[in-house]
Amino acid sequence: MAQLVRFGVSLEKILLARFDSHLKGKKYTNRSEAIRDLIREDLIKRQWQEGNEIAGTITIIYDHHKRELVNKLMDIQHDFGGVIISTQHIHLDHHNCLEIIAVKGRPKLAQKLADTLKAVKWVKHVALSMSSTGKEI
Ligand code: NI
Repeated sequence: MAQLVRFGVSLEKILLARFDSHLKGKKYTNRSEAIRDLIREDLIKRQWQEGNEIAGTITIIYDHHKRELVNKLMDIQHDFGGVIISTQHIHLDHHNCLEIIAVKGRPKLAQKLADTLKAVKWVKHVALSMSSTGKEI
């Protein structure tokens, strides 16, 4: 288990009151957990900005009846094989498919893949979830 260190934080009373109120809505049991999460979020943002190895997911929603679209999405995924580690396809209903693409590697490539998918005609929604390999956070 990682060694824990205590440290003091000084901040405006009103800001702390707002933070505590915010934590109630988020179901945190203490400030330390919330502050740890904020720090990790910031470190992950930096990993995505600075080009370290990242992990995350891209979720796509599309209508599979557009056959050209299905082929196009497949071609794109083959082009980005270096950053894709897994995909899952879920048939949401008669028309709509949900695909989850797990990515790991260079953040620029993962971002480019999400942007490329977003730009494809007939794709209904693309969401990139920027996460981490778990190292250095
Ligand atoms: Ni499907």
